[in-house]
Parts: sequence; structure tokens; C-alpha cells
Amino acid sequence: MVKEFAIITKSAEETQNFGIEFAKKLKKGDVIALYGYLGSGKTELAKGICKGLGVTQTVSSPTFVIVNEYSSAKFPKIFHLDLYRLKTLDDIINIGFYDYINENMLVLIEWPEHVEDLLPKNTIKIRLAYTDENENSRWIKLEIN
Ligand SMILES: Nc1ncnc2c1ncn2[C@@H]1O[C@H](COP(=O)(O)OP(=O)(O)O)[C@@H](O)[C@H]1O
Ligand SMILES: [Mg+2]
Repeated sequence: MVKEFAIITKSAEETQNFGIEFAKKLKKGDVIALYGYLGSGKTELAKGICKGLGVTQTVSSPTFVIVNEYSSAKFPKIFHLDLYRLKTLDDIINIGFYDYINENMLVLIEWPEHVEDLLPKNTIKIRLAYTDENENSRWIKLEIN
């Protein structure tokens, strides 16, 4: 059964706060796929999740480096991937994608569409989108399998 939950946030801070709350439910081995267009708030949400996990390092967009690594007391290894620039399966394999999917790690993936077929079955999917309301409004939907 898929559990779904959706909210609309009115600011980047509200999106981060949602991430902080959501992070309380996470455990090692979880894979979180963050779907959404450029600027929809994937990285803002990742910042909130990491705050909620107790990460003290700066969380930033890994668009150019592909992977950032953080840690916290409970989660020694947290990987934050941005696959925007990786288009082919070879690209994905070459960054060692499978090394990140591991029961001891927590993985946040931006642009998970690029690895859709490689995602574990129990991947937690979060979809973000702009809304018509105003430029600071975002719709966020959580799907847990
Ligand atoms: N409700 C909101 N939630 C998240 N970000 C918002 C919101 N309103 C405005 N923003 C802005 O939108 C941008 C989102 O950027 P970012 O998180 O890097 O997007 P993405 O990683 O999806 O490309 C930031 O500049 C942020 O300040
Ligand atoms: Mg981003």
C-alpha cells in the first residue's frame, strides 16, 4: 500500500521545516528521491532533512560535484546526489551509484528520474512543484511504499 501525504508551503523556510519534521521518521538505509523541476525546492528540502537529522555541515546543491557527503551522530554517512547532469546509465554507473545504496547510509537523490529503474522498491518519493498561487508557493507530496 502506498501512503501519501501532501502539503503546500509558502516559503523556503516552511519547506525546510517540513524536511525537519519528516527527518524524524528516517532510518539508516532509506533512499529518498526528490522529484521536481529546477527551483522547485529539492535542495531546500534536503537542507531541512539534514537539519532534522542533526547534520551540522553546510548542505548545498551538488549539481556540479554530483555527490555531497554529510554526517550526523545517528547517520555516519549521508549522501546527497544531484543527477541532473548524468543522462546515461554509463554515467550513473561510473559515479559508483550502487555504492551509495547501502543499508548503512541515507541517500537523498535530486533528479531521480535519471535512475528510475535502479531505485530500490521501498524508495521514499517526494514530488515538488510550483503552484499557481505565487512564486513562493510549493506543492510537496510524499509517497511511502
Ligand atoms: N515554498 C518554497 N519552498 C522551497 N523553496 C522556495 C519556496 N519559495 C521560494 N523558494 C525558493 O526557490 C528556490 C528553490 O531552490 P532549490 O531548492 O535549489 O531548488 P531545486 O533544488 O529544486 O532546483 C530557492 O531560491 C528558494 O528560496
Ligand atoms: Mg537542487
